[in-house]
Amino acid sequence: MPQTIIVLDFGSQYTQVIARRIREASVYSKVLPFNTSIKKIRELSPSGIVLSGGPASVHSKGSPKPTKEIFSLGVPILGICYGLQLMGKMLEGEVKSSKLREYGRGQLNILRKGSLFRGLPNILTVWNSHGDCLVKLPKGFKAIAETENSAYAAIENQEMKFYGLQFHPEVEHSVRGVEILTNFLYKICKCKRDWGMNDFTISAIQEIQNTVGDKKVILGLSGGVDSSVAAALIDRAIGKQLTCIFVDNGLLRKNEREQVKDLFKKHIPGKLIVSSAGQLFLRKLKGITDPEKKRKIIGRTFIEVFDSEVKKLGKVDFLAQGTLYPDVIESVPIQGNPSSLIKSHHNVGGLPKKMKLSLLEPLRELFKDEVRELGRSLGLSDEVLMRHPFPGPGLGVRVLGPITSLNLRILKDADAIFIQELLKSGWYHKLWQAFCVFLPVKSVGVMGDERTYENVISLRAVTSSDAMTADWAKLPDRLLRKVSSRIINEVKGANRVVYDISSKPPSTIEWE
Ligand code: XMP
Repeated sequence: MPQTIIVLDFGSQYTQVIARRIREASVYSKVLPFNTSIKKIRELSPSGIVLSGGPASVHSKGSPKPTKEIFSLGVPILGICYGLQLMGKMLEGEVKSSKLREYGRGQLNILRKGSLFRGLPNILTVWNSHGDCLVKLPKGFKAIAETENSAYAAIENQEMKFYGLQFHPEVEHSVRGVEILTNFLYKICKCKRDWGMNDFTISAIQEIQNTVGDKKVILGLSGGVDSSVAAALIDRAIGKQLTCIFVDNGLLRKNEREQVKDLFKKHIPGKLIVSSAGQLFLRKLKGITDPEKKRKIIGRTFIEVFDSEVKKLGKVDFLAQGTLYPDVIESVPIQGNPSSLIKSHHNVGGLPKKMKLSLLEPLRELFKDEVRELGRSLGLSDEVLMRHPFPGPGLGVRVLGPITSLNLRILKDADAIFIQELLKSGWYHKLWQAFCVFLPVKSVGVMGDERTYENVISLRAVTSSDAMTADWAKLPDRLLRKVSSRIINEVKGANRVVYDISSKPPSTIEWE
């Protein structure tokens, strides 16, 4: 058992970010609900406990509280934001609703460095998000930092090793916040760097084995990073009990079907069913031009095809998905509201309910870059792990206007050239996404001495860190010139190439 830090979750949107920062510091962390029993906490013999932030006020009725016994374990505790206020209130200090709420960037004045702020400058930029404020220190505590509006922005009980931070050290905007957290881990909890992705793999495999037992699991493989890594991990855990289903909806990129089969052959020895449903999708999409209608038809048809493949397998109990933490919006059961809200996965939304399957989501605590690292440790190649995101409805939303096999062929050929040139020039990995869009517009051209009247292809290449905002990429002239001339020369049916120079917002990354 590695040294463990328990993160008690009071419903903050940053709880998993705290856990992630601890993992990054090579220390094992476990996120548990705020009301976890002292028995369970003792069983894990934690080296330290972090109390997360949360949306509640310590004054409101039914606000979440941990068992008071955590303060008698003799274990270091770090309270963050709501966690600090909670510690203040439960140890008989005083918390008030502050007239001066602090949101966003602030300046922290360190009064005493001690172990928590060791190695840091006297003034730090930190990120706040709180309405309540500690106004009287609990017994045995001292203020160790202040902000303009808060005399107790950081507090310490040196003897008990209890610490509180009013700001959020885990978020990127708190400059050097990570060092505060690692000081807590290494200098206060005396943790060693003894945990890594291989340890995650081992414990995830055990957990999958315990959950699944001797039952059967199916997984909808898309060929993207998340479902591929989930498949490789589950395959390691339960081998033959897993069946992966890859639905070829005819809306895939050039050679994608072969690439997915190849990935399987090389890295995942288990069972793969490839369902060829391209013609069915094309039939259902015939004449449809409205983007949202396209999405609905593609989603419904996917479920139909997937369902009929699963039925052939006999009794299946679990549906595995490569859901990541950013896909999961979870609210802990606060104030009697036990709801857990999960964003439906774009490909298989509605499936588990319809098919009465339990969900198996072994990646749901991880962020994208951690999933890539996990994939690497499972032997997957960068070709799979570093691929750009691809929308569930695939080329269905990149062929504008009606989807026909001719339009799809033109788009696939053009897109393959664009991606090939981006890879060759080293630009591919600098971009969030790059692809071609087929425009249902014809324009006049001249090739040799002949007049042509053919379709237009738009190139789209964007930089982004999360797809929420994006900017068009300043690709070099030479590269654009090469791509344009190759597409016009080599792709029958396209005689003009344009470059999309719109940012998001106000545009979106995809055209539909
Ligand atoms: P937009 O076009 O909204 O795209 O700027 C943001 C990100 O989401 C992807 N995207 C989708 N993914 N189903 C998906 O699974 C969809 O219907 C869909 N639409 C957009 C898009 O590729 C980009 O990464």
